[in-house]
Amino acid sequence: MTVQEVKQRFGIIGTQSALDRAVFKAIQVAATDISVLVTGESGVGKENIPKIIHHLSHRKHAPLVAVNCGAIPEGTIDSELFGHEKGAFTGAAGARKGYFEEADGGTIFLDEVGELPLGTQVRLLRVLETGEFIKVGSSKAQKVNVRVVGATNVDMLEKIDKGQFREDLYYRLNTVEISLPPLRERKGDIHLLFRKFAQDFSQKYRVPAVRLSDEAVRVLETYRWPGNIRQLRNLVEQLCVVESDREINAEVLRQYIPEIDRRSVPARRDDALSQSEFQTEREILYKVLFDMRNDLNNLKQVVAGLAGGSFQAPQAPPAEASLPVLRHSEPASNPEVPRYMDLPQDDEETLDVDSAVEPDERLSLLDLELETIRRVLERHKGRRKNAAAELGISERTLYRKIKQFGLD
Ligand SMILES: Nc1ncnc2c1ncn2[C@@H]1O[C@H](COP(=O)(O)OP(=O)(O)O)[C@@H](O)[C@H]1O
Ligand SMILES: [Mg+2]
Repeated sequence: MTVQEVKQRFGIIGTQSALDRAVFKAIQVAATDISVLVTGESGVGKENIPKIIHHLSHRKHAPLVAVNCGAIPEGTIDSELFGHEKGAFTGAAGARKGYFEEADGGTIFLDEVGELPLGTQVRLLRVLETGEFIKVGSSKAQKVNVRVVGATNVDMLEKIDKGQFREDLYYRLNTVEISLPPLRERKGDIHLLFRKFAQDFSQKYRVPAVRLSDEAVRVLETYRWPGNIRQLRNLVEQLCVVESDREINAEVLRQYIPEIDRRSVPARRDDALSQSEFQTEREILYKVLFDMRNDLNNLKQVVAGLAGGSFQAPQAPPAEASLPVLRHSEPASNPEVPRYMDLPQDDEETLDVDSAVEPDERLSLLDLELETIRRVLERHKGRRKNAAAELGISERTLYRKIKQFGLD
């Protein structure tokens, strides 16, 4: 299969040579059993690579098992990956197959492999070197025939330096490295991807596709896309659902692009800190504090719930809280009721948490809140829906706060 054919078959959009090179490498190694490590920032499309490798290999009729190593608690990861015997630990009522056994004859994709605990790394190294593993609570080694593809968005060499990742395992995993470029280095592909996603969502929501003005295209091309293709896809979905005008101009678009990336400092720093950068810096601090305050409120709610005997779970943090536009990233299951619109999500309303804080502290927290809300509203030219989305609170809560602070 050629690179073009593979891209078509797997829905991979892009014309940049770095992307083609990655696809080419995946095709080349597919027929072998060599371990592959896929590297690249979050959202660049790393999951495409194990799919290509698996489906172009002789293993294609056996399972491709994907495991997110970063999402499994340290206490259970060994048993999830390698299985356990009956009675191996408290609560292990029966024996259980691990993912390696389930993937026998096929491929296992270890996403966020850099997050594996050291003990698990030893077990993994053993499988890679001998094709053998031992279930938790067993003393008998079992054979398994699995091809391993790992992925990571962290600097593995730094992990090794810090003693968090075994060097021998790294070299064993990284026999071939396939790296995917960040979106900001694929400027030429941004508009292409936009059009593809606009098409996808127009079908999904049965509305005409959104289009960009020339200036809006330039806005997209100069943004630094910390969340890469996932973030772009998300943005197109929001535009598609929220905006009534199908032609998106730069001004509308800017409201969907965070000027700052919350909880992360701009990647590039110039020597002289200009006034505007100073503003940005301050905004970052405001935002971080604002978020912390929300977290604090959630915590207090839990504590209050525990004290009162009625545990009330706090709102789960969004999966990718560091990227503002991804706050509402889950695709709406029902196209009629898009999640980003007006669903209440303001648990903080139910409790007068402010009363639990010292008076002075309360004053400065209120100040901070007022200032943050004022700035965000200003940036969104008073559009509450967008401001609320950026702040991560519901429109209803924002409305109440505007009243409270007399911000009208
Ligand atoms: N080249 C591409 N063309 C079209 N969509 C892509 C491309 N690369 C990634 N995507 C989409 O972007 C999203 C993020 O990709 P994913 O593989 O989950 O990223 P990663 O694992 O690197 O964080 C997915 O919805 C995926 O389908
Ligand atoms: Mg991923």
